[in-house]
Amino acid sequence: MQFDFTELPPADRYRLLTNFVGPRPIALVSTRSPEGQNNAAPMSFFNVFAHEPPIVIIGFSARPDGSEKDTTANIRRTEQFCVNMVDMALADQMILCGVNFAADVDELDFAGLTTAPCTQIDAPRVANTPCAMECRVERIIDYPGRAIVLGEVVQMHIRDDCLDPAGRYVNPAMYQPIARLHADNYIVSDRQFELKKPVGLAAREVAWNPRDTVEPR
Ligand SMILES: Cc1cc2nc3c(=O)[nH]c(=O)nc-3n(C[C@H](O)[C@H](O)[C@H](O)COP(=O)(O)O)c2cc1C
Repeated sequence: MQFDFTELPPADRYRLLTNFVGPRPIALVSTRSPEGQNNAAPMSFFNVFAHEPPIVIIGFSARPDGSEKDTTANIRRTEQFCVNMVDMALADQMILCGVNFAADVDELDFAGLTTAPCTQIDAPRVANTPCAMECRVERIIDYPGRAIVLGEVVQMHIRDDCLDPAGRYVNPAMYQPIARLHADNYIVSDRQFELKKPVGLAAREVAWNPRDTVEPR
């Protein structure tokens, strides 16, 4: 089947894009308003796009009534937010944070999430998340009814058991993030496998990539 996206209504574009571009990692975004109100919401239009500078990107849509989500409003005003990665242990609490509560509801509190302070920004983070990234807004790209936020990661908190003893590589037995598929369907990263480029093709590489070298542990 063919779909002309220049003609397709937005709701159909959303359905097809989110049904086929996945699994999408989930950022549970925690913020604090200038008045001190804590907030959290999950976002799956999310990923990392660079390491120098270290940039994560999140796509926020407006609510159906056109109003801006609390997360977007907080980020605009404070230019700070924290991305908490989500595993199975946090799944049920993450989905509670996705309820469109009024601005005076602290979703972290409602979901029973324990928080800890961030170190470089004024926002709460989820204490038992496998990984939390403190971010400062690098830029916001506005479209009608949506905003794409580029955030620079300034601090990363990683739970000790999610790293090897040297603190360098992820421990895949412990860090198994969940991700969003189509509609209300999710997947957990518990079937990981290694895939390497054939050694015989090394001579054909036009440039050497340091990431291709396995560092001694
Ligand atoms: C798994 C999941 C992923 C979501 N991803 C997004 C997203 O990428 N962008 C967005 O605008 N809303 C997304 N939502 C919806 C928001 O989480 C929801 O509207 C939330 O209530 C916003 O809360 P806030 O007003 O406190 O910011 C997602 C919801 C869930 C459950």
